[in-house]
Amino acid sequence: MMSYGERPRLLVVANRLPVSSKKTGENSWSMEMSPGGKFNLLGGVTDQYDTKWVGWPGFDVYNEVEKTALSKSLAQMNCIPVFLNEVFDQYYNGYSNGIIWPILHHMGLPVEYHHDANKSFQTQYDAYKKANRMFLDVVMENYEEGDTIWCQDYHLMFLPQYLKEYNNKIKVGWFLHSPFPSSEVYKTLPSRSELLRSVLRADLLGFHTYDFARHFVSTCTQILGVEGTHEGVVDQGRLTRVVVLPMGIDPDRFISTCKLPEVIQQMNELKEKFSGKKVILGVDRLDMIKGIPQKYLGFEKFLEENPDWRDKVVLVQIAVPTRDAVPEYQKVRDQVHGLVGRINGRFGSISSLPVHHMDCSVPSNYLCALYATADVMLVTSLRDGLNLVSHEFVASQESKKGVLILSEFAGAGQSLGAGALLVNPWNVTEVSSAIKDALTMPAEEREERHRVNFQYVITNSAEKWGGDFLSELNDAFAASEMKIRS
Ligand code: G6P
Repeated sequence: MMSYGERPRLLVVANRLPVSSKKTGENSWSMEMSPGGKFNLLGGVTDQYDTKWVGWPGFDVYNEVEKTALSKSLAQMNCIPVFLNEVFDQYYNGYSNGIIWPILHHMGLPVEYHHDANKSFQTQYDAYKKANRMFLDVVMENYEEGDTIWCQDYHLMFLPQYLKEYNNKIKVGWFLHSPFPSSEVYKTLPSRSELLRSVLRADLLGFHTYDFARHFVSTCTQILGVEGTHEGVVDQGRLTRVVVLPMGIDPDRFISTCKLPEVIQQMNELKEKFSGKKVILGVDRLDMIKGIPQKYLGFEKFLEENPDWRDKVVLVQIAVPTRDAVPEYQKVRDQVHGLVGRINGRFGSISSLPVHHMDCSVPSNYLCALYATADVMLVTSLRDGLNLVSHEFVASQESKKGVLILSEFAGAGQSLGAGALLVNPWNVTEVSSAIKDALTMPAEEREERHRVNFQYVITNSAEKWGGDFLSELNDAFAASEMKIRS
């Protein structure tokens, strides 16, 4: 139990720990915070709380001696591992990313899941529940009375229920980092009611946008027959509060990285490499929801319609490989490679290629150099919880003030829409026109649009998001405690 004068304790539970571990010897590991990880962005919030992260370390460990050694090293980074091992594939590649993820992103269930006996819905669903129980076990081994437990994302939809069944007095929050779809789409999920009932056991539920929160509440009313109010969802007199809190980034990290001599040097090299050309940048995980094929179709259309621009513009696309054991991800990679070949074949010359596509991640400093050098950032997500890349671009463009083209289907479209050029990524003509508008935009308009978005990004940081969520969670928990006592 927390004693007087101590900081309150917070356990942040997410599928992945915010550190990457590398084996350096038989039982020794080196660790570093993952620079792109979104769950390590809480900044000052982690100083107000005594914070620990619970999550999967990123690989299997079966040997007990190794597990102990890794756990000790992770403890120095305030991280506690959940060794999912044999459950991982069916829980992560199967149920989380093969079933829930496409439904949350309006993509529907892939047909093959119903035909392959080994990957049947039931097997993956059981693995998902088992993995959530494994998270519960590790949380409970580390829980002390009064702790706050903050569950993150669609991987952990059973955890709120398991925690409350274990001890109804635990303070539990859950935040969804993906979209929540219309009830018509969500209804296709075979386990639709169980997942909703579980998350409703939390004291506070958070979403990035009003639309996602509204969809969630109306889905609960339609599927469970509970009442939706402006505060959240009421079931048998008990209110589960629902809040809209869009996440942000750590803007100072990008602003200061852009000023490092090493990064300035990289920026100069990039400027020289692309001299005489405008640079359009794309940075996405190689995920079907990111709309990379649609981006290429829009760019191809632009080159078709604007022959004068053909040797004056390049599209640099960083496509970070992800979840490549899931068949849908393999398909999108092949599709993207086909399009890159076609565009470079149609519009390339000995001296210039219009598309520079890379299936890789890049070091974080180099990423800042790319963001800062680009004239235009092109985000064409088909659905996206938020899209922090668009925030990172804005934070890195303090001197250049480039243009953000942003999909209206990304959560960030609602917060950065004032400064960005919003597009429907399915409409290639619209994407092509937006590219032209961005490349030819007068400096005054560019600067004004950037000013509005920069202000938003620096004000609405991840630190603020974390602090706001935890303060709402404390209020919701206190209100429900009072109700129980009265
Ligand atoms: C999305 C999810 C996160 C996840 C991230 C990376 O943003 O909302 O929960 O961590 O993708 O995906 P991965 O499967 O590589 O952890």
